[in-house]
Amino acid sequence: MTVAPQRFPLTVLDDAQTVARHVARRVVADRLALTPRPLGLATGATMVPVYEALVAEAWKLPASQRQRLQQKWRSYNLDEYLGVPPHHPGSFAFFMHDRLAGPLQLDPATVRLPDGMAADPLGEARRYSAEIHAAGGIGLQLLGLGLNGHVGFNEPPCAATASCRPVELSPETRRHNASAFGGDPAAVPSQAITLGLAEILAARRILLVVTGAAKAGVLRRMLQAEPCPQLPASWLQRHPAVQVIADRAALGATGA
Ligand code: GLP
Repeated sequence: MTVAPQRFPLTVLDDAQTVARHVARRVVADRLALTPRPLGLATGATMVPVYEALVAEAWKLPASQRQRLQQKWRSYNLDEYLGVPPHHPGSFAFFMHDRLAGPLQLDPATVRLPDGMAADPLGEARRYSAEIHAAGGIGLQLLGLGLNGHVGFNEPPCAATASCRPVELSPETRRHNASAFGGDPAAVPSQAITLGLAEILAARRILLVVTGAAKAGVLRRMLQAEPCPQLPASWLQRHPAVQVIADRAALGATGA
């Protein structure tokens, strides 16, 4: 089902698994393009079934196509916690290795993230942004939606011009992400490096993936709000090729 809301192109599918398969097929098609640009990737619970479906789709491909996908892989994650080493199960580097790079047998060097252990986080943020720019910029960008309207770790309030930088995480975000840190919000790092809205809005195409009833309130706000710093995801309305892919549960409270 595709409906046309006022502010965003929105595709609504039955459930999170259907959303995951849809997104995975879009990613595979993007990767098999003749000269794919780097892929922009997110972490979080929303992406778990997406990467499962992506791995399954990739292994269904004829061997020659799968090898092309593997050999041409280049992805850049949105964010990483500060002070958490890549082998820590709470790090996004671990998540990406565990959920994607390992099962898909990707060269780990082609699955890029900011270095959360960098001695100079601001310098690392600038280096990471410059690396993406030098690689030709992001082609297809996957995004999840934070409960407070963040994308990446761009917590409200956030300007559309914010670029890659170290940020403070809100208590709400640390609570939401506590499961990877033994369930203790205080164990979740209080800082991270994130791509900014500037780099996100520079992607050629954006897929914002929203599933589950818990996101219904923030999704409704985002679909209706004027772009504003209090709801960082609302800046995506300014992008010429953004699409929201949601399941029915996430649309639950919209009446759509
Ligand atoms: C996290 C990440 C985002 C993610 C979002 C939604 O904190 N920094 O990249 O997309 O918040 O997370 P979830 O899918 O777990 O709801």
